[in-house]
Amino acid sequence: MLDKKYGIGIWGDSNFIIEDGEVCLNTDFKPSLLDIVKQLRKEDVRGPVLLRFPHLIKKQIVEIYSNFARAMRESEYSGNFSAVYPLKVNQYPGFVKNLVELGKPFNYGLEAGSKPELLLAMAYNNFGAPITVNGFKDKELINIGFIAAEMGHDITLTIEGLSELEAIIETAKERFTPKPNIGLRVRLHSTGSGIWQKSGGINSKFGLTSTELIEAINLLKEANLLDKFTMIHFHIGSQINEIHPLKKALTEAGNIYAELRKMGATNLKAINLGGGLAVEYSQVKDSMQRNYTLREYANDVVFLLKTIANSKDVVEPDIFIESGRYIAASHAVLVAPVLELFSQEYTETKLNFKATNPHIIDELYYLYQNIKSSNALEYLHDAIAHMDSILTLFDLGYADLTDRSNGEILVHLIIKKSIPLLGNKYNLTDILDIQNEVQERYLVNFSLFQSLPDFWGLKQHFPIMPLNRLDEIPTRSASIWDITCDSDGEIEFDPKTNPLFLHDIDASKEEYLLGFFLVGAYQEVLGMDHNLFVHPTEATVVLKDDGSFEIQNLLESQSVIDILDDMDYDIDEIQYILNQRIEKSDLVDEKQKKHILGELYLFLNDNGYLKSIG
Ligand SMILES: Cc1ncc(COP(=O)(O)O)c(C=O)c1O
Repeated sequence: MLDKKYGIGIWGDSNFIIEDGEVCLNTDFKPSLLDIVKQLRKEDVRGPVLLRFPHLIKKQIVEIYSNFARAMRESEYSGNFSAVYPLKVNQYPGFVKNLVELGKPFNYGLEAGSKPELLLAMAYNNFGAPITVNGFKDKELINIGFIAAEMGHDITLTIEGLSELEAIIETAKERFTPKPNIGLRVRLHSTGSGIWQKSGGINSKFGLTSTELIEAINLLKEANLLDKFTMIHFHIGSQINEIHPLKKALTEAGNIYAELRKMGATNLKAINLGGGLAVEYSQVKDSMQRNYTLREYANDVVFLLKTIANSKDVVEPDIFIESGRYIAASHAVLVAPVLELFSQEYTETKLNFKATNPHIIDELYYLYQNIKSSNALEYLHDAIAHMDSILTLFDLGYADLTDRSNGEILVHLIIKKSIPLLGNKYNLTDILDIQNEVQERYLVNFSLFQSLPDFWGLKQHFPIMPLNRLDEIPTRSASIWDITCDSDGEIEFDPKTNPLFLHDIDASKEEYLLGFFLVGAYQEVLGMDHNLFVHPTEATVVLKDDGSFEIQNLLESQSVIDILDDMDYDIDEIQYILNQRIEKSDLVDEKQKKHILGELYLFLNDNGYLKSIG
């Protein structure tokens, strides 16, 4: 069962802390997320907002470099450690520009998988820091890679298939003296585990088989380019949840490295393990997703490669990693307001008893008035059964709409009253079953398709919690509904994996904000504009030494006009048609037309998220 702290001790990595009932950044001055949002509200920001925290990007970079430095020191490892950030994980400038700046002291580089990503890397990468290029390449992309080398970048083009190598050999003959380094992606037998494990294994989309590797070495020798072959690469999948498959893959890759060096590839110096370092997304102990720490990962990688290099009598390879999720996930939090609770209308004042009510309504009212902790479970079961009976009576014509409404209200009132009374008195499974049955639906101002696409596509869980009221026990088992017109836009209460409890609130009277955490990796770039809900407003929150925080790069979500423009609509035409239709309407007078035209202008230039309900 989710604890009162929403599992922050499991997924939070000490980045957040609860103080005075609010989620705060766990830094010296502990600013609360709610205060940050209030500051944004003063700048007229409404709707969902994505907060970026550069101090959390820095923390992840430092952790990776310091753990590998420590592991290498402890093992007296003679190779070097390098890392590149894979742009595919999040290419937004609000993230990338901060990352490049923060990575400068470490010579942290970038990985690209397409022409736009490579050009981005060539423009922004810290000079001298490595660039690696993975993915399928045409002659043009290879040319761009050569241009990067001609600019002076330390770039490695990783070959996914022999035809790419042939294209590189051809390009090398056509171009100038500087040349990129060449990496070979090896197709390993070993695979990862978990939902993102398809990148490894003998049937994977990428990499050279042993036969192709031998052929590649021969081709490189013939072209006099063997000295440019410096790296082998593999990637067994993202979010590797167990360390064991990585160790198997490393053993395989380490042996391939040694064999290739023995074949004369004496400039082969590095093994690139790709990405895959996992993030703990779970809010409950029973469904934790990762069985290792970064410390263990670094120790295992260094130890294994040292052992293989020593036993095969080859130089200890430089270690390269391309972890993206681990670097980016924690830096972003989506904050979205609850717009409505679906049972909000079920209040006592809405009851409308008649002089004579059906017996079952009287019975429900009795249950409501007399429920207490000793009978809560029994009364709750009775109430749910009575609701079924009322619906049957209604269908048969023995109860009218007023009776039905009274029944619905009373059952919901009994549910609300019973949940705190049940406490932990009963068998957990019983309670969770009941809570599953009586879950409240919270309508939240965000698009799941835009902001949590991996939940939609893969049911990947992301931590969710309210930003305040954390000193009060939440009483409602909750499912989250987004604002798209799509029934897939729902995060259901799940007694095992998502036992989410929220507070009973009146959304028309108080702002109740939910935080969706660990959304900084993949979610922004994979997000879909379903229903034309686009990337939400974003803000970068920079912490100052004096304890204050500063909001930088406030970027409002696109206006309706810009969204339609992006879809290649003719904006002038749309505005013209809308204006004409008002001008020609004989349903409103001239003064009203002027007013409506002004309103239309504002709506078209505002963002598309909801402001409030009702
Ligand atoms: C070749 C390569 N390197 C690195 C990564 C980044 O992986 P992760 O974000 O899991 O660290 C990926 C993503 O799947 C990849 O395909």
